Amino acid sequence: MTYKIGLLRGDGIGPEIVDSAVRVLEAIATKYNHKFEFTPYLIGGAALDACGVPLPEETVKGCLASDSVLLGAVGGPKWDTLPGNMRPEKALLGIRAAMELFTNLRPAKLYPALKGDCPLREDIVANGFDIMIVRELTGGIYFGERGTREGKYGEEAYDTESYSRMEIERIAKVAFETARKRNKKLTSIDKANVLDTSRLWRKIVHEMAAEYPDVECLDMLVDNAAMQLVRNPAQFDVIVTSNMFGDILSDEASQITGSIGMLPSASLGNTTRGLYEPIHGSAPDIAGMNKANPIATILSAAMMLLYSFNLVEESEAIVGAVDRVLNAGYRTADIAHGGEALGTKEMTDKIIEML
Ligand code: IPM
Ligand code: MG
Repeated sequence: MTYKIGLLRGDGIGPEIVDSAVRVLEAIATKYNHKFEFTPYLIGGAALDACGVPLPEETVKGCLASDSVLLGAVGGPKWDTLPGNMRPEKALLGIRAAMELFTNLRPAKLYPALKGDCPLREDIVANGFDIMIVRELTGGIYFGERGTREGKYGEEAYDTESYSRMEIERIAKVAFETARKRNKKLTSIDKANVLDTSRLWRKIVHEMAAEYPDVECLDMLVDNAAMQLVRNPAQFDVIVTSNMFGDILSDEASQITGSIGMLPSASLGNTTRGLYEPIHGSAPDIAGMNKANPIATILSAAMMLLYSFNLVEESEAIVGAVDRVLNAGYRTADIAHGGEALGTKEMTDKIIEML
């Protein structure tokens, strides 16, 4: 079977880390006798430079015609002064919406080999942690009505958050099912003491909890959750939350793993076609220098094999190879603490060697 994979290399370190993941996928194809067909499409600043828009129509069409899509990163100082709807980031929101990817899975776990990188006190992370954040991705305030107007105090701007029952039900269902396959604990995070959207969210999550008696379901206010993540991260198994809260909390969760360069993500909808990308950004300061950590993108490719293609063994082979490389002490600069560091290419070679 041939799997058609769209590549959105994007900006900054995007091209290097996507190329690393492609090399790992090619090694998997050889080893397990699969065929991956890669087609690149422009997105972000690269698309702005080439055709004047951050998300060309051709890119959307290409992604929709692919079996799955791998993305590097978008954005950089060169495009930072463009108006909101022309910014590279807008392309990311646009492609998620066009592909109807309402679920964002963001795992954050502490690698035993990288325990020393965790900024939390040793006794707090003595037992490690392994959290799966399920972030709603195509609704809420990032997609609500917005604008600028003359207000009571003159010039003002506004953004609005709304969530429908359908949007909450479908993301909650993913979260409950995910919890069922893990440690059966779901924490739903909201701001129900203030927001109507959160009150509806909480009500629907409670209704659905009755259908999942095997899953322990708790509510937590988002401000408390931000605190609990650094106080006792091991209390979390699966977290489900809105687009904006998930954006913020997943960055916090990645930071306590000590290594944002390690964390993959999967964006999914109702089909097996997904969009897989590292959680980190385009790191323009080290772009093209063979310094970037390719692991988050390589692990994103592993998530693609699992969630889009159901290639369980192949996915586990990649995850295992990354573990072995880390356990053997190999590091890229971001996790080397000034010690010996491998370049992007060399780290990729090591992972391929250990497959
Ligand atoms: C992320 C990013 C994006 C988001 C931005 C760049 C639009 O922060 O993937 O978390 O908020 O979704
Ligand atoms: Mg973010």
